Amino acid sequence: MSDILNFLQTRNSAPRLTAPAPGPAEMEAIFRAALRAPDHAWLRPWRFLTIAGDRRQDFGRLLEECLLMRDPAADDAARAKALKAPLRAPLLVIVVARLSEHPKVPVLEQRLSAGCAAQAILLAAEASGYAGIWRTGDAAFDRNVMTALGLAAHEEIVGILYLGTRDGAAKPLPDLDTGDFVSSW
Ligand SMILES: Cc1cc2nc3c(=O)[nH]c(=O)nc-3n(C[C@H](O)[C@H](O)[C@H](O)COP(=O)(O)O)c2cc1C
Repeated sequence: MSDILNFLQTRNSAPRLTAPAPGPAEMEAIFRAALRAPDHAWLRPWRFLTIAGDRRQDFGRLLEECLLMRDPAADDAARAKALKAPLRAPLLVIVVARLSEHPKVPVLEQRLSAGCAAQAILLAAEASGYAGIWRTGDAAFDRNVMTALGLAAHEEIVGILYLGTRDGAAKPLPDLDTGDFVSSW
């Protein structure tokens, strides 16, 4: 089996991440992989925001603030979780879908293209010797969070990618049978 095929078959998300994260030159290469996401009509319906270093603390404060706007009764544990969420990895990449009206490309296809870009980032990060995980949650769908991050009304978060170095052993991969998912018609 080719190394690339084996790599694709064994990609594994990493819920626990630590430093180092990919550096600037490595991120440039990773983003170049994202720019090869399939894209109907060449709309380029995505962009990417990076959050690293102290900005993660600022982002945590924003997440806590927006949590309290969604749920003023949020308890201390929920507030602390929001505040600390961005510290789970040294680098966050927010994948933004940029949606527009198009006669042939419904917004679903534009969201899917952004999802492909997100997957390309995860794969390219892993190919570069790092690890990551795609997360969303209520904050990712909160318009207050999006606005504070500078997203326009036609933009959405499709994923918050946590990137860094795997902390601990990789989780075992499930033993799935393609026959449960594939049939001929
Ligand atoms: C759109 C999307 C959103 C996700 N959001 C979360 C999330 O908020 N929290 C989480 O723990 N996993 C989330 N996941 C799942 C993880 O990214 C990952 O797929 C899961 O832990 C299984 O690991 P694996 O990808 O290595 O099989 C999400 C996945 C996708 C595709």
